[in-house]
Amino acid sequence: MAGQNILLFGATGQIGSFILTAILSARTQFGRVAIFTSPRTAETKAAYLEKLKEQNVEVIIGDVEDENAIKAAYDGIDTVISALGRNALAQQIPLIRLAASSSVKWFLPSEYGTDIAYGPASAHEKPHQQKLKVRAVLEKEISRADLDYSYVVTGPFAEMYLHFTPGMEEAGGWDVKARKAVLLGETGKERVSLTTMKDVGTLVVATLLHSTPESRNRPLCVNSFTTSPAEIQAEFERQTTGKPWDDVSCTSVERLRELETAAWEAGNPAATVFTLRRIWTEGGTLYNQRANGLIGEPKMMSLGEVVANEIKRVSSL
Ligand SMILES: NC(=O)c1ccc[n+]([C@@H]2O[C@H](COP(=O)([O-])OP(=O)(O)OC[C@H]3O[C@@H](n4cnc5c(N)ncnc54)[C@H](OP(=O)(O)O)[C@@H]3O)[C@@H](O)[C@H]2O)c1
Repeated sequence: MAGQNILLFGATGQIGSFILTAILSARTQFGRVAIFTSPRTAETKAAYLEKLKEQNVEVIIGDVEDENAIKAAYDGIDTVISALGRNALAQQIPLIRLAASSSVKWFLPSEYGTDIAYGPASAHEKPHQQKLKVRAVLEKEISRADLDYSYVVTGPFAEMYLHFTPGMEEAGGWDVKARKAVLLGETGKERVSLTTMKDVGTLVVATLLHSTPESRNRPLCVNSFTTSPAEIQAEFERQTTGKPWDDVSCTSVERLRELETAAWEAGNPAATVFTLRRIWTEGGTLYNQRANGLIGEPKMMSLGEVVANEIKRVSSL
């Protein structure tokens, strides 16, 4: 849908900034582009916000919990894209209710991750609970006459999948300098679908511009590519030493479950990392058919590019 007026929440955050960059690279295809940002961000990222204004972005500063500020921000807006962070997911519920009684006709909530309705077990996964509540409001409470929705479900961000989480090495990752890798799964050959952060932006823009009845009111399970930890390892070896790295091990699903249980019991907030990585290793990012084709099959990055970028990033540190 070209020419739509769009408003973004969380546009200055980790994935929101990639979504906004992709929108700005297609700027002429949109009407108004506005972002709603917190007073704190207005202070800490003032120079970035000034640059956005130069690119014809309306910067609205306010508190996401201020109903009047939200109503004013929605005036004349057709589509809302939320990229609010994990700690702010529940705040989308009042945002959705207000959108339903405004000019807004389409809401893309903050998803950009694991399919939270993948199978029967998904409803019980702890990290999914807030996003499930948001979906319930959109699907069961709000009338389609008032508001459509689309869920851009990308699976893990490829760049983040490659990184070790400090203190949680068994959760997997690649250390290019130390030539060390921990592959997830019994053998590392288990398939996983990943999406680069740049491609998340590309896929959101494709969702906005290739809207059809089939691409609305449903999850769009998209990705950059499907691979396996063993294939990623082979790509790292091909682009670095040309021979096997010395320090390569595997973490089985069973071991991930043990680590996950211990982390939740200890109240460790990083427990989410183990849960999500266990879900991904169990096949929770695999689909009979990905939805890229429903939104115009935009060009995606490859595994080779992601690995090359990681090697470049590490060598510049
Ligand atoms: N697939 C993956 O591997 C992966 C990885 C990370 C995240 N994600 C998903 O991506 C989405 C966005 O996550 P993110 O990491 O990009 O978010 P983030 O950078 O932590 O936060 C995004 C923005 O949300 C606003 N915000 C954050 N906390 C807030 C709070 N407590 N109250 C009000 N506003 C708040 C801030 O924007 P302003 O200050 O500008 O208002 C912030 O810049 C989430 O749904 C998350 O689950 C997926």
